[in-house]
Amino acid sequence: MAEDIRVAALSGSLRKGSFNTATLQTVAELAPASMHIDVLTLHDVELFNEDVEAEGWPPNVSALRDKVAAASAVMIATPEYNYSVPGVLKNAIDWLSRPTGKGPIVGKPLAIIGASPSKVGTARAQAHLRQIAFYNAMPLLPSAEVIISQAPSQFDDHGRLTNSDTREFLKSMLKEFEGWIVKQKAA
Ligand code: FNR
Repeated sequence: MAEDIRVAALSGSLRKGSFNTATLQTVAELAPASMHIDVLTLHDVELFNEDVEAEGWPPNVSALRDKVAAASAVMIATPEYNYSVPGVLKNAIDWLSRPTGKGPIVGKPLAIIGASPSKVGTARAQAHLRQIAFYNAMPLLPSAEVIISQAPSQFDDHGRLTNSDTREFLKSMLKEFEGWIVKQKAA
């Protein structure tokens, strides 16, 4: 029997009503039974500082690193801030990338998604995230970009992603990601 797959799913938004966090919650709901999606928010992650790092991982950083280390793949839902990734996400990735070339995200298969109220939102943030993934040798799911545009029209008043086409698209992305993770493990 195939081994179950754990995915650490990072939301780049701290906002209570975040479309990106809600999208990850939908992903967790739609994932095949063999895939466990651990939705992680990045509250209270200290600002990266090499001096702090030299004294040891701060407790919240250590907890985040352990969760990502326990996963065999990573999914990131990124908002787009100023045409790039939010600082909180970049900060967390900086911690997770350490030590360089050996951090818990290094080499893990990655799927990127993003939700924005705008028509093309997150495409530019996702492009920046791909650069970051390249530095960390993360094999990126090579399928279509998951860009959830005009987000307010796709979620209900309780913040649930209700657009059926988008839900189907996420389901097929999850199947592809599962296959991609298995392929990378075998490589
Ligand atoms: C934004 N937003 C935004 N949207 C976009 O499509 N491109 C952009 O460059 C930006 N820039 C930007 C900067 C800052 C500082 C903020 C606060 C917002 C809007 C952003 O997409 C919107 O707030 C999303 O709803 C954020 O994602 P969550 O919190 O819903 O997950």
